[in-house]
Amino acid sequence: MKLGHVIESQQFTLPMLVELFEVADQMERIIARGGTQDYQNKIMASLFYEHSTRTRFSFESAMYRLGGKVLSTERANTFSSVAAGETLEDTIRVVSNYADVIVLRHNEIGGAARAASISNIPIVNAGDGKGGQHPTQALLDLYTIYKGVKTIEGVKVALVGNLTDGRTVRSLAYLLGKFERVKLYFVAPDSFQIKQDILDYLTKHNVWYTLESNLKKILPEVDVVYSTRIEPELLTQRGERLETISQYFIDDTLLKLLPSHALVMHPLPRLHEISPTVDSDLRAVYFKQTKNGVLIRMALLASVLGY
Ligand code: CP
Repeated sequence: MKLGHVIESQQFTLPMLVELFEVADQMERIIARGGTQDYQNKIMASLFYEHSTRTRFSFESAMYRLGGKVLSTERANTFSSVAAGETLEDTIRVVSNYADVIVLRHNEIGGAARAASISNIPIVNAGDGKGGQHPTQALLDLYTIYKGVKTIEGVKVALVGNLTDGRTVRSLAYLLGKFERVKLYFVAPDSFQIKQDILDYLTKHNVWYTLESNLKKILPEVDVVYSTRIEPELLTQRGERLETISQYFIDDTLLKLLPSHALVMHPLPRLHEISPTVDSDLRAVYFKQTKNGVLIRMALLASVLGY
């Protein structure tokens, strides 16, 4: 598989996902052998206009494990010529002369697509804006589900938290919607519910979904609960109180309602959504997601750079 730009989840077909997961499996074996030098002549630029721990470090780790080199700016708004007023387009034109692939996190929805429209090297969307997409996170989430429940067909997934702005949930909903008999439960207060564009996509593709506000009610039914952060600063803006939102926080009491085979997932960083007491439960796979992130990002970089 030779990938070009990686901008949104919808661009991945089922055969592409199968191949990507096979390559990710191979990458685990490559890491166990100490990595490879296959990409020693390749350079990845990581250009982040927003803060990040997992995405930036895992992409950079992935590139180093492939033998490649990394150019990096962690706060492009402050530490690059963006601070002098340079446009995204000019920055991309310049950086594309220095690297073979650009991993871009941008603060505006559509930032990655804008970059791709003028870049002569592949752009990988590492998250664009509030309510945009985060396709590489969704790919590692899907890979973690696949590893955890063995088959994605027929999986029942509760997506919980800030579904309006959460780009990881939006990208994951698009990916899950590609599989047969999947059931999606969007669980959030009204002011944080999933947007109509995702529901329209799911309806068009005959994917079963429901909108819920009661997490306790649906926990016994699902194979995966995927929790996301609700930013405290948004609570007052949207007329919600922390006490209202706390019914969506997963603790030992809520965990008892979840089937024994189910997975507890979170893209991280977390605030209060999952109690640290849940971490030792075998169903908690959010740190496994971060490990899988390196495998999937190695597979993506290899596919973009050619193998
Ligand atoms: N999940 C995720 O995107 O984390 P970072 O913001 O730390 O990259």
